[in-house]
Amino acid sequence: MQAINLDGVSFGAVVSNIDLEDLDEQHFGELYQLWLDRALLIFPEAHLTLEAQDTFAKRFGKLEFPKAVPISNIDKDGKVHSARNDDVVKSLRGNEGWHHDSTYMPIQAKGAVFSAEIIPSEGGSTGWADMRAAYEQLDDQLRTKINELTASHSLYYSQGRAGYLPSQQNEDGTYEMYGYHNQEVPLRPLVKVHPETGRPNLVIGRHAHDITGMDSQESESLLDELNDWACQEPRTYHHQWKVGDVVIWDNRRLMHRGTPFDMSEPRRMWHTRIAGEPQTELALNH
Ligand SMILES: [Fe+2]
Repeated sequence: MQAINLDGVSFGAVVSNIDLEDLDEQHFGELYQLWLDRALLIFPEAHLTLEAQDTFAKRFGKLEFPKAVPISNIDKDGKVHSARNDDVVKSLRGNEGWHHDSTYMPIQAKGAVFSAEIIPSEGGSTGWADMRAAYEQLDDQLRTKINELTASHSLYYSQGRAGYLPSQQNEDGTYEMYGYHNQEVPLRPLVKVHPETGRPNLVIGRHAHDITGMDSQESESLLDELNDWACQEPRTYHHQWKVGDVVIWDNRRLMHRGTPFDMSEPRRMWHTRIAGEPQTELALNH
């Protein structure tokens, strides 16, 4: 195994000379430690089958979805979705806002394996941002201010604010889509200690809203300030995909986002989501 840290970034490593389908316990243990240390591992053109991708992901924890799901503008019939008001497009465009996965669900995701099958001719990179470095580099006064704060996390909020709520709505105002649940909105601390490294990091992003004890406007401007500041170099990295690239990231430490591409071109990525541990990733009110 050869691992080279991303240049000038507080996280991330490119890993080569490794067979992800044939890792004994000792080598997997080394890889897992590297993942905890660097939070994003990139395996260029590893070309895993979906089954092998899921098998690899399961070594990091239980899966949140039973198997890899497509993140794509191509539907089952091969149609490419590109219209601005199309629900598939709205969902993809929403992902262009920085976020941690599943913070709007009762249990925040632990991480994800993500791979590229079909890529557009340009654009469509994926970005990550280091919320541990952001917390550590935060202005002392602001860090003290936010240390004990909590915020709600909701996909209704994030998609609504961006103008990307689905066009189909139930009579009771809910939506039949993953994450548009009608349970109590998860409440999470703005600063969370990573369960395995013991290092604190910010938990913010597009789903966070209505900090407890603040009015909506004050909360929104504080969260906007934190998000804008945190997701800047040298705490960010954007990966321009090649077909067959595979990555795995630590969703407890990093935020991520998609970036725009010409949606008249087909793009299909595969996402295997690793579930968070109920002991440490459960929302405060669940
Ligand atoms: Fe995501």
